[in-house]
Amino acid sequence: MRIVLMGPPGGGKGTQAGLLKQQWQVPHISTGELLRAAVRDGTPLGLKAKATMDAGELVSDDLMLGLIEERLSQPDAQTGFILDGYPRNLSQAESLDQVLARIQQPVSGALLVEVDSEKIVDRLAKRAQQEGRSDDNEATVRKRLAIYAEQTAPVANYYAEKGQLVQVLGEGEIAEVTQRILAAVNEAGWG
Ligand code: AP5
Ligand code: MG
Repeated sequence: MRIVLMGPPGGGKGTQAGLLKQQWQVPHISTGELLRAAVRDGTPLGLKAKATMDAGELVSDDLMLGLIEERLSQPDAQTGFILDGYPRNLSQAESLDQVLARIQQPVSGALLVEVDSEKIVDRLAKRAQQEGRSDDNEATVRKRLAIYAEQTAPVANYYAEKGQLVQVLGEGEIAEVTQRILAAVNEAGWG
């Protein structure tokens, strides 16, 4: 199973990937989590990425490609993966296809979890209170939503044009969304 899990900021990618990785026995690779770990550890990557992340903008394609190539080369990713937060623009989608073609592991497909923007603003306001993630204040959330619409939504079309996109509604109970995803992936014949 090699899946690109797509969806807006706060759409539930991390939540769902955390559940699906057990079902599918593949690692959950979140570029946002990798970046936040780099920021916490004060690595050169973290130092370069922090201000961009706090502004809700995209870290450069070059830095992201290095990060994802390194992660995909690790042993646990050889049997599959759930990618969360990558690719995030068309250039990253093309780079990912090239990297995966080189190792003869093309993606099974992309799964788009859709959630209404105002519901997202509510979800992330709640998380801001609980966890204090530095990009969860309302102004930055709206910036992230705008960047998603401009740069990431076209990536869904990129997969759709190749017949590789499946869409599910990401609203409702968490377990309900998981069931929708499992049914959609089963119907698509992935994995
Ligand atoms: P990233 O960490 O990927 O953030 P994001 O895409 O904005 O998404 P989130 O992690 O906020 O949300 P999620 O979809 O994982 O939802 P979650 O499950 O947490 O990226 C952060 C930043 O890093 C970017 O802005 C950028 O700067 C940089 N970056 C990362 N990748 C990059 C790349 N490829 N290129 C360039 N830059 C990159 O759920 C959200 C909340 O909702 C949680 O509190 C959860 O408990 C709750 N929730 C989940 N499901 C439900 C439900 N069904 N009902 C109610 N609440 C729910
Ligand atoms: Mg996440």
